[in-house]
Amino acid sequence: MNILAFETSCDETAVAVVRDGRHSLSSVVLSQTELHALYGGVVPELASRRHTEAMVMLTDQALTQAGLTRPDIDAVAVTHAPGLIGALLVGVGFAKGAAYALGKPLIPVHHIRGHIAANYLCHPELKPPFIALVASGGHTLILHVSDYTEMTVLGSTRDDAAGEALDKVGRVLGLGYPGGAAMDALAAQGPADAYRLPRPLVEGNPYDMSFSGLKTAALSVLNSARMKGETVDRAGLAASFVGAVCDILVSRTVLAMEQSDCETCVLAGGVAANTRLRRELAQALSSRALFMPTVSLCGDNAAMIGAQAYYEQLAGASADMSLNGYASCSV
Ligand code: KG4
Ligand code: ZN
Repeated sequence: MNILAFETSCDETAVAVVRDGRHSLSSVVLSQTELHALYGGVVPELASRRHTEAMVMLTDQALTQAGLTRPDIDAVAVTHAPGLIGALLVGVGFAKGAAYALGKPLIPVHHIRGHIAANYLCHPELKPPFIALVASGGHTLILHVSDYTEMTVLGSTRDDAAGEALDKVGRVLGLGYPGGAAMDALAAQGPADAYRLPRPLVEGNPYDMSFSGLKTAALSVLNSARMKGETVDRAGLAASFVGAVCDILVSRTVLAMEQSDCETCVLAGGVAANTRLRRELAQALSSRALFMPTVSLCGDNAAMIGAQAYYEQLAGASADMSLNGYASCSV
């Protein structure tokens, strides 16, 4: 089954064709980061407008890259939640038009489920059940994935997402927007014990996380150095901050693995591209199976949406022409 998939939940316009949930025949991603970098963060209306401009061109590219034409498409999939509502509605509206014109089923896909499914494209042997750590710019969750379309959230961040915290500290370090990848590169040049930063615990749920106190601690290192006229070891601060973020993510994931009957762990989301996180999780789970997407499939893309859509339609999910977008939605 060839699924034409669309992803427009934030600042990447993405279209892909995926066969049988496991083979990405094409995947095109048009990033808007240069546009939003001018403002230090995503400007929702500009994101929607850019999506609107790019959809047809990227769809043609995705079909050409896949070596297919419109009659070869068996279903259309789209991210309908969660995300920036205006941005989501561009993708949902376009996907409805495509499904209507082609006379094919329309499959709505939850963005977080899509991130997890990026792993199905990279690892043919991977199948549920497993524990998933999803860390991105908007979300940080640990889930028990019992089946392709059945999952329970074990814990999540109480405040900032891991990627959001990395972006904010990156911005103050002068790394531009989004700062996650630049923080990763800068952190590689400094010692992770340069600054003592907190690893806050949260009451109530051992799998929940908090990044805002850690972010404030890193920002106050910079502010107090500025006030005293001292120079900050930028690489050391980046390394210490990335180290603390990884400690928080890895400790909760290891706990979830220990307390579940799962032998398999899956990493996903934009922050899954982080070098230190990939290394530390692999070390911490050395006796278990750990799967992570190739770096190019960690960030937002439509191939992951096409992969998850295959399993959603197998489970009976489909939408009619009244499908809407939702800024927030449980996984
Ligand atoms: O999944 P994603 O593309 O978008 C959302 O769904 O939010 O994730 C984007 C996030 C950004 O915060 C970005 O800075 C972060 O992923 N990111 C990284 C790296 N590459 C991207 N964070 C840490 N290390 C990286 N190498
Ligand atoms: Zn995402």
